[in-house]
Amino acid sequence: MLLRSRNDALVLLVLVNTLFFRSSALELTTRASLPDPLVFTPDQNWDGIDGQWNSFTLRVGTPQQFVRVFPATSSQQTWVVQPGGCAYTDNFGSCNEQRGWTFNISASSSWDPIGNFSTGVESELGYDSAAEYGYETVGIGGLGEGGPTLLNTTVGAMMSLAYFIGIFGLHPKSTNFSSFNEPSPSYMTMLKDEKKIPSLSYGYTAGNQYRLDKVLASLTLGGYDSSRFTPNDLSFSFAPDNERDVVVGLQAITASSTGQENQTLLAEPVTMYIDSIVPEIWLPTAACEKFEQIFGLVYDVGTDLYLVNETLHQTLLSMDPNITFTLGRTTSGGQTIDIVLPYAAFDLTAQPPYQGLSNSSLYFPLRRGSNSTQYVFGRTFLQEAYLTVDHERQSFSVSQCVFREDAQQKILAIKPLQASSNASGSGGGDQGLTKGAIAGIAIGTVGFILAVLALAGLVWRNRHLKAKLGRRISSAADGSHAGSEGIEDQGPNLMSKAELDGSSTGHEKWPMEFKAPNPEEVDASQTQIYEMQGDVPEGAEVDGRQLSEKEGMLYRERKYNGTDLEVSPVTPTAPPEYQRRAAPVNGCDVRRVPLRDGGTHGVSPITPVSDCSSGRWTRRRFSFEEEDGQHEL
Ligand SMILES: *[C@@H]1O[C@H](CO)[C@@H](O)[C@H](O)[C@H]1NC(C)=O
Ligand SMILES: *[C@@H]1O[C@H](CO)[C@@H](O)[C@H](O)[C@H]1NC(C)=O
Ligand SMILES: *[C@@H]1O[C@H](CO)[C@@H](O)[C@H](O)[C@H]1NC(C)=O
Ligand SMILES: *[C@@H]1O[C@H](CO)[C@@H](O)[C@H](O)[C@H]1NC(C)=O
Ligand SMILES: *[C@@H]1O[C@H](CO)[C@@H](O)[C@H](O)[C@H]1NC(C)=O
Ligand SMILES: *[C@@H]1O[C@H](CO)[C@@H](O)[C@H](O)[C@H]1NC(C)=O
Ligand SMILES: *[C@@H]1O[C@H](CO)[C@@H](O)[C@H](O)[C@H]1NC(C)=O
Ligand SMILES: *[C@@H]1O[C@H](CO)[C@@H](O)[C@H](O)[C@H]1NC(C)=O
Ligand SMILES: *[C@@H]1O[C@H](CO)[C@@H](O)[C@H](O)[C@H]1NC(C)=O
Ligand SMILES: *[C@@H]1O[C@H](CO)[C@@H](O)[C@H](O)[C@H]1NC(C)=O
Repeated sequence: MLLRSRNDALVLLVLVNTLFFRSSALELTTRASLPDPLVFTPDQNWDGIDGQWNSFTLRVGTPQQFVRVFPATSSQQTWVVQPGGCAYTDNFGSCNEQRGWTFNISASSSWDPIGNFSTGVESELGYDSAAEYGYETVGIGGLGEGGPTLLNTTVGAMMSLAYFIGIFGLHPKSTNFSSFNEPSPSYMTMLKDEKKIPSLSYGYTAGNQYRLDKVLASLTLGGYDSSRFTPNDLSFSFAPDNERDVVVGLQAITASSTGQENQTLLAEPVTMYIDSIVPEIWLPTAACEKFEQIFGLVYDVGTDLYLVNETLHQTLLSMDPNITFTLGRTTSGGQTIDIVLPYAAFDLTAQPPYQGLSNSSLYFPLRRGSNSTQYVFGRTFLQEAYLTVDHERQSFSVSQCVFREDAQQKILAIKPLQASSNASGSGGGDQGLTKGAIAGIAIGTVGFILAVLALAGLVWRNRHLKAKLGRRISSAADGSHAGSEGIEDQGPNLMSKAELDGSSTGHEKWPMEFKAPNPEEVDASQTQIYEMQGDVPEGAEVDGRQLSEKEGMLYRERKYNGTDLEVSPVTPTAPPEYQRRAAPVNGCDVRRVPLRDGGTHGVSPITPVSDCSSGRWTRRRFSFEEEDGQHEL
């Protein structure tokens, strides 16, 4: 070969390298230094007044105060309950325990106050609460569990009953407390910045008490636990609204009960948001009415709950229905997956003061939603479904959980999106190619030459063997036999090592074990199917495809629901701005849902920041006194 300059040689080397090797040596070194995923081990506790849910422990403040929380897929903040949150009862001790231990701001020396704001999560469902915000030290896990501790993280201390115990936000978006200060980063972003997790992603399932001998929740930050679910090959792209991104199309609901024909419960397909902050499943009112018909549920107007008495409970137990939710990327057509919930998943107990209840009661965790802003799959659904969310690629998957006595945790990492582009961009200088990259290319090229030699060797050997033994071609050409001896396997073996980059540390492409879809259905998030570098679409193309998928979803949304989702601009060429896309928090927007018995229990003595004190907020200290009338639905 005649090469006129060093540049030509490089171009050729790059070409060879891209065509035949999935990762350059440079990328390998970048990935080898990635941190492992963080497994956030749950407690043995089951908390909540809207059912019983497995909780997690955080260490908050200086000195540490321990609080129990639920993971919240829709929030980016940590929320704790203040002692004032027990003002509704005379028994502080039992309330303190029931609310997962309260956090006393005055007892912490590291609390750095920000101000009072509304939490603003799921306000469409009436969930708004006020909280006193500050920067505070928060550690993951109980004493001696070795979880990381981060300083200056965003914490909201609430008193309201809207959220009964605290939460640990899994969303990586940041919070804007005011338009003139820097947005405050989320806990997840800080974990990644401090190299505690490999990427802005997580895997979560809520656990349940009815399978085996109680199944604890599972939460993996920066990866997922592949032992907890049956993988499927359907992966979803985020919906465009970052306040409502983990959205699936719900195409059908089917009930199969003992001794009865299967029945469909959903007349019109809808889009559903998956949010672990919400306990119930919120469905269109028409679908709820179908549930009422089939199962004999009766809507309690006083509490907005489907309370279940002992008679009805026995009937439901004997029917023992399985409810199948059929999910797709959109509300009709395309590939679908089924998530099946047994009746046991719906057999929950509500306790006072939930929804103004005065006595504990069994209830069926189904809620009436009036439009697409209110259709939500809550924790009830996540008892049987495993949710893997990759915020960097803006994609997620939902899978049916498996429950095995002998299940061994198998944690797999989700890689960061920008690890490789960052590495080749940094320290590049004017030449464009760094010494590292050149070294990588050189190594790759040597590998290529070896591969060619090995291939030649293989061909020779195959012919040789063929002549002798007849048929051993296919297995010899298959690169997966990494363990075989001899120079023959050297080529394929080298390649598979490059593909598995960092597999020794448990990092695999996400979601590694999912099957390859049809070429037409290739989704931006399903990068696992590409065998070689040359097949992987560039970043811009990836985003472009995501956009068109989202546009399609919007279109269908308009067509089938007559509603219009808010479109946030996604530039096909720019990397997703997930880290700095902030959620607005409006201090003037303090609202809360009053208790059903007329709001005599004052539990939210939080006023909004003084900047907003134009008129009505200055007159009274207790926001609920003013808001009661206005927000009774
Ligand atoms: C909170 O901490 C302060 C300071 O340590 C203490 O005076 C106060 O009694 C505590 N409040 C509660 C409810 O424990
Ligand atoms: C936390 O915030 C305080 C006050 O803004 C600041 O003094 C301190 O340096 C910060 N600590 C870290 C680790 O950023
Ligand atoms: C958040 O604050 C920054 C300035 O710090 C501002 O540029 C941005 O528009 C704000 N975002 C929202 C959603 O308010
Ligand atoms: C519900 O599903 C379980 C597990 O798949 C099965 O054993 C049971 O027979 C099903 N029940 C009905 C009524 O279909
Ligand atoms: C009823 O639904 C179950 C679960 O979806 C399915 O296995 C079964 O075949 C269905 N039966 C009929 C008669 O369609
Ligand atoms: C139980 O509830 C069902 C339907 O909600 C109702 O028809 C029945 O009278 C109730 N039974 C008792 C004993 O309250
Ligand atoms: C609540 O329970 C108490 C004692 O069991 C009973 O006296 C009372 O009537 C119940 N209240 C309601 C509203 O059912
Ligand atoms: C959806 O329904 C809720 C409750 O009825 C209502 O407050 C909200 O405005 C509705 N949103 C839309 C977009 O129609
Ligand atoms: C990528 O580079 C940017 C700017 O140099 C930096 O802020 C960011 O932390 C880097 N990301 C990673 C994953 O290293
Ligand atoms: C926030 O509300 C609490 C409770 O009402 C009050 O003590 C505190 O001063 C308020 N903080 C700010 C910054 O307004």
